[in-house]
Amino acid sequence: MKSLCACGLVLLQASAVLGCAKDISEHAIFDPHVALAKRQETQFPPVLDKNEAILVNSFDNTTLEEWSYYYAHSYHLAGTNQSLAQWTADRWTEFGFTSGLITYYVYLNYPVSHSLSLSYPNGSTWEATLKEDALPEDDVTNWPNSVPTFHGYSATGDAEAEYVYVGRGQKVDFERLDALGISVEGKIALARYGGPFRGLKVKNAQERGAIGVVIFTDTADDGNVTEANGYAAYPHGPARNPSSVQRGSVQFLSTYPGDPTTPGYASHEGVPRADISPVTPQIPSLPISYREAQPLLWALDNYGPSGAEVNRTNWVGKLNATYSTGPAPGTTISLSNVMEGKITPIWDVIGVINGTSQDEVIIVGNHRDAWIIGGAADPNSGSAVLVELAKAFGRLQKTGWQPKRTIILASWDAEEYGLLGSTEWVEDNLPWLKGAAIANLNVDVATSGPDPDFSATPDLHKIAEETMKKIVYPYRGYNNLTLYDVWFGLTKGEWGVLGSGSDYTTFLHNGISAIDIGSGGSGEDPVYHYHSNYDTFHWMTTLGDPEYTQHKVIGQFVAVLLYHLATDEVLPLDVENYGVQLTEYYEKLVATLETENATSVDTARLEEAIATFNASAAAITSAISATSTEKEQAALNTKLKLFSRGFVSSGGLPNRGFYKHVVFAPGLDTGYAPVLFPGIWEAITEYSNETLAQEWVEKTAAAIEVAAGLLD
Ligand SMILES: *[C@@H]1O[C@H](CO)[C@@H](O)[C@H](O)[C@H]1NC(C)=O
Ligand SMILES: *[C@@H]1O[C@H](CO)[C@@H](O)[C@H](O)[C@H]1NC(C)=O
Ligand SMILES: *[C@@H]1O[C@H](CO)[C@@H](O)[C@H](O)[C@H]1NC(C)=O
Ligand SMILES: *[C@@H]1O[C@H](CO)[C@@H](O)[C@H](O)[C@H]1NC(C)=O
Ligand SMILES: *[C@@H]1O[C@H](CO)[C@@H](O)[C@H](O)[C@H]1NC(C)=O
Ligand SMILES: *[C@@H]1O[C@H](CO)[C@@H](O)[C@H](O)[C@H]1NC(C)=O
Ligand SMILES: *[C@@H]1O[C@H](CO)[C@@H](O)[C@H](O)[C@H]1NC(C)=O
Ligand SMILES: *[C@@H]1O[C@H](CO)[C@@H](O)[C@H](O)[C@H]1NC(C)=O
Ligand SMILES: *[C@@H]1O[C@H](CO)[C@@H](O)[C@H](O)[C@H]1NC(C)=O
Ligand SMILES: *[C@@H]1O[C@H](CO)[C@@H](O)[C@H](O)[C@H]1NC(C)=O
Ligand SMILES: *[C@@H]1O[C@H](CO)[C@@H](O)[C@H](O)[C@H]1NC(C)=O
Ligand SMILES: [Zn+2]
Repeated sequence: MKSLCACGLVLLQASAVLGCAKDISEHAIFDPHVALAKRQETQFPPVLDKNEAILVNSFDNTTLEEWSYYYAHSYHLAGTNQSLAQWTADRWTEFGFTSGLITYYVYLNYPVSHSLSLSYPNGSTWEATLKEDALPEDDVTNWPNSVPTFHGYSATGDAEAEYVYVGRGQKVDFERLDALGISVEGKIALARYGGPFRGLKVKNAQERGAIGVVIFTDTADDGNVTEANGYAAYPHGPARNPSSVQRGSVQFLSTYPGDPTTPGYASHEGVPRADISPVTPQIPSLPISYREAQPLLWALDNYGPSGAEVNRTNWVGKLNATYSTGPAPGTTISLSNVMEGKITPIWDVIGVINGTSQDEVIIVGNHRDAWIIGGAADPNSGSAVLVELAKAFGRLQKTGWQPKRTIILASWDAEEYGLLGSTEWVEDNLPWLKGAAIANLNVDVATSGPDPDFSATPDLHKIAEETMKKIVYPYRGYNNLTLYDVWFGLTKGEWGVLGSGSDYTTFLHNGISAIDIGSGGSGEDPVYHYHSNYDTFHWMTTLGDPEYTQHKVIGQFVAVLLYHLATDEVLPLDVENYGVQLTEYYEKLVATLETENATSVDTARLEEAIATFNASAAAITSAISATSTEKEQAALNTKLKLFSRGFVSSGGLPNRGFYKHVVFAPGLDTGYAPVLFPGIWEAITEYSNETLAQEWVEKTAAAIEVAAGLLD
């Protein structure tokens, strides 16, 4: 899945947790002066060693385009098309990875039929098509088997009622409606996309007694590239096609991901199955296009407080309406959603090159399943990159090279419903992974636009930055930039923080370091039709990445990063930076507790724990520079490999034990966007319980001390 926008710059803020929930208007703008200011630190063109050069030069935009064409011309909704999984395994095998399919039996549901109509008080009605237009220019949009517009894991049901516009459907939006005396009890909620993960919009509406939910795309999320601003719509131009619909899962992602019937254990055939209601909705929901949202919004104009009176950030979008809350008396929506649920096989592809040291492993993953026949960006730009990466490592192997550490390539299935393929695989292999895993490199949407968008645990920042300096990036007409220059020109060096929304999640919450790698557009680039029928090869080759340059750059970066993690004598993990970042997060936490008036919470123990961690990190860093023997290196590598396991708390976070990392978690009410020190933070913001916050200060400090101890 992966959210729509760059997480890049946003950290814990004084009174609100933002993150991927932010608008595209907050997307960082590239500053060429900042980009080049650090050039003296880097060489241009970069100097590569022999093996790096083999990898980098192996990436070819023609073959990338070929893999992209293949994936984006196949029906590959989660749990379908085993032959595409086999094709992936065959390519990896051909290039030297021993590859095969692993099957899990998971609960998924598929769309059977749906309808939505609007009835006016005068008795006339309007019927939504719930369809995206077939475009003569874009071949796959004409395929007869195109995937209907629907929500994965949505409930079967009919609902007919007056309806209320609820903004982005976050808790704060419903609280604002409460304050205005508007209830959704017994009504249908009409919500905008954007902000929190869509499943949480449905969860919030359900908890307030709504009987159905309709979620629409708003052109306010498209930056400046809109028809209203004079841009032609796809396929004639870069603006959004008015009929485009965002499919997607409505699982309650921030409670737990994975197969909802097997929380905490792998979905093998015949295992006991749990009740799915803690993480899937009980009320039906449907996604619609902005074109079909227009009459629904119009009908609410002049009923209930207008958007201006509601006066909340991101309440009013860019469609032609006042974004009034409604309800409009006697104006009703009638919707029906029929789904078929079943336990069904999914196929992960796993490819391996054994390292000389087999108790150390790096996992490079990408999901394969898409909501539509295309999926050219989400996720198959990443899939094309992984095939090309396998080819590059194949070339390196032909020179006689073997990695020190085992490399695993993974093509996950059913990520889109809720990270199923990766979560079941991690649960299936947990004891081994806890002993052996160094890091998970995740590539979901490798590219939907030119701006790099990276998030990672702090130990990976340095090696990732060093790697970026080795990759030339022909970017927006510049021919003298490295990927590092571009990234720095966008972020000023500030790293994104991991929340959730892609397959690194289950690794991270078992204490395995992770980096999420991709690139996307700014508010001035062609609109990316996320989870829509227009995420196609045609879009990619005309607008998204016509020359496959972005694919190539992301692929080269992943390959060189992987190469160093798998090959360097001492693992290139920067533990000291963990201490630096923890301190930054700590300072933000303290500021936040102050603005929240959580005066009784004493954080001294947490600060001490970070200082303890600092001392251990400094000690191992000097040990690394003093090391000479292989035996010493092996001992240090074991510590570097294992220290981050310390950050997980055995019982997990309050009311969501799946999420165990004490430093990072997706926000309970955001789903994608991260919160820092989530146990402490949410004790205040979600539970208003300072006793609980104090308990989490102790637990968080204890976990950081365990991590420190693992370095000693
Ligand atoms: C839209 O254009 C205006 C004016 O050029 C600019 O200030 C703004 O940053 C742009 N917004 C986005 C999202 O790019
Ligand atoms: C699976 O994908 C392949 C590759 O595009 C395609 O040839 C095949 O028809 C698809 N199978 C099904 C059942 O859709
Ligand atoms: C009923 O009301 C709707 C909305 O105001 C309007 O568009 C439609 O023309 C009306 N139909 C009739 C038959 O008056
Ligand atoms: C909207 O809210 C802001 C603060 O949240 C306030 O300063 C402003 O006066 C409000 N505007 C209106 C029109 O109520
Ligand atoms: C906006 O909608 C109103 C009717 O509510 C209509 O009169 C007006 O022409 C529309 N404006 C645009 C720009 O479509
Ligand atoms: C890799 O190592 C494992 C465990 O030692 C072994 O079972 C497997 O056959 C090896 N694979 C290859 C391709 O050498
Ligand atoms: C890089 O390229 C830009 C424009 O392409 C040019 O203005 C600038 O002087 C170049 N800088 C260096 C250091 O080569
Ligand atoms: C590959 O890149 C080159 C140079 O940018 C470009 O001329 C060529 O058209 C690209 N090929 C493909 C298949 O996109
Ligand atoms: C914290 O207390 C101050 C002073 O009493 C008050 O103005 C502010 O609204 C309070 N903040 C919160 C988040 O409750
Ligand atoms: C940890 O070390 C970093 C620098 O290495 C320093 O900036 C930070 O203040 C230290 N934190 C604590 C809590 O001592
Ligand atoms: C606050 O948290 C503490 C510690 O977990 C718990 O014992 C207590 O019941 C909670 N209080 C409320 C009001 O939920
Ligand atoms: Zn994805």
